[in-house]
Amino acid sequence: MGKTSRDKRDIYYRLAKEYKWRARSAFKLMQIDDEFHILKGVTKAVDLCAAPGSWSQVLSKRLYEVDENAKIVAIDLQPMAPIPGVIQMQGDITSEETANRVIEHFSGEKADIVICDGAPDVTGIHSLDEFMQAELILAAFNITSHVLKNDGTFLAKVFRSRNSSLLYAQLKKFFKHVYLAKPRSSRQSSCEAFVLCKNYDPPAGFVPTMKRTQLDVTDPAELSADVIDGFVTCGDLSGWDSEQSYSLDIETSYPKGSEKDASNQYEFKDVVQPPTEPAYKEALAMKKMGIFSKLEHDLEKAHKLAVAKEGAERQEKSQEEKGNIGLDDKLVEGIESIVLDN
Ligand SMILES: C[S@@+](CC[C@H](N)C(=O)[O-])C[C@H]1O[C@@H](n2cnc3c(N)ncnc32)[C@H](O)[C@@H]1O
Repeated sequence: MGKTSRDKRDIYYRLAKEYKWRARSAFKLMQIDDEFHILKGVTKAVDLCAAPGSWSQVLSKRLYEVDENAKIVAIDLQPMAPIPGVIQMQGDITSEETANRVIEHFSGEKADIVICDGAPDVTGIHSLDEFMQAELILAAFNITSHVLKNDGTFLAKVFRSRNSSLLYAQLKKFFKHVYLAKPRSSRQSSCEAFVLCKNYDPPAGFVPTMKRTQLDVTDPAELSADVIDGFVTCGDLSGWDSEQSYSLDIETSYPKGSEKDASNQYEFKDVVQPPTEPAYKEALAMKKMGIFSKLEHDLEKAHKLAVAKEGAERQEKSQEEKGNIGLDDKLVEGIESIVLDN
């Protein structure tokens, strides 16, 4: 596959590089903000699971434009290259220690908004992925409950599933309004959406804690209630479609109709900010040290051993069926030693 193929298949990936956003996710936040104006009047924001940092870039651009004293705190498991005006931390948001570090930044003052675009490494096992995502949202909510001001906003990525209404019902206990937003830049074929919780209003007597393992919904009847205030598709509907492939020759102004680059000639661009500590760096180091060849050799040996043993056992079984005696243990040991010596 040529290096331009993703540029053709994924218009938001291409736009992100051309408009210097670190990830295509930037468009999701901008489209949600353009629809709901969630960043209007915001001066203090927390960006959870922020790497490589495109949401923080959007926050930095939209908040500092209005107030040069804005405060943005961003956290991720991965290190992030610096972004002007963004306080960055590396840590796991599900751990109490990292949560406390975020909370410390807000001692005496509260955030207007907490956003979380967190996604665990996908295993491909649907129920496990869903569970991990739910854990991440719960951790994000726990931090939010410490730092968010009353009437504040919480935005988090969710993967819609059969159990989603439970989450929405739980969040509705803490926020006056809960919407589900689907930006145009999020593929329609993906179950990804963003739960937008407005007007934080925790129940009387609620005490924030990082130890909460679930949000209580006391009345099961509430689960069947239609708790979502609306499912909203965000973004200019005449704009770019994330499902469509586009020719490399098309104009790429964003939003459509805005001023385009001096030249509209397509030119391949690298991603704005490659990961600072990618997992493949470690893999390359292991390869250099010959660890992979040794692993391959061991795996091959283990495979040969398994095949030889299976053959011997099959032979033993057929001998037994014919009424002959079983294979001698010494013979099996012999096979093992031949294989292992090679
Ligand atoms: C889709 S990316 C976020 C993209 C980001 N919003 C942007 O615009 O650049 C998901 C991020 O979640 C982070 N993440 C996943 N689990 C986490 C955890 N337990 N604590 C902190 N970050 C986590 C990953 O490291 C990854 O960087």
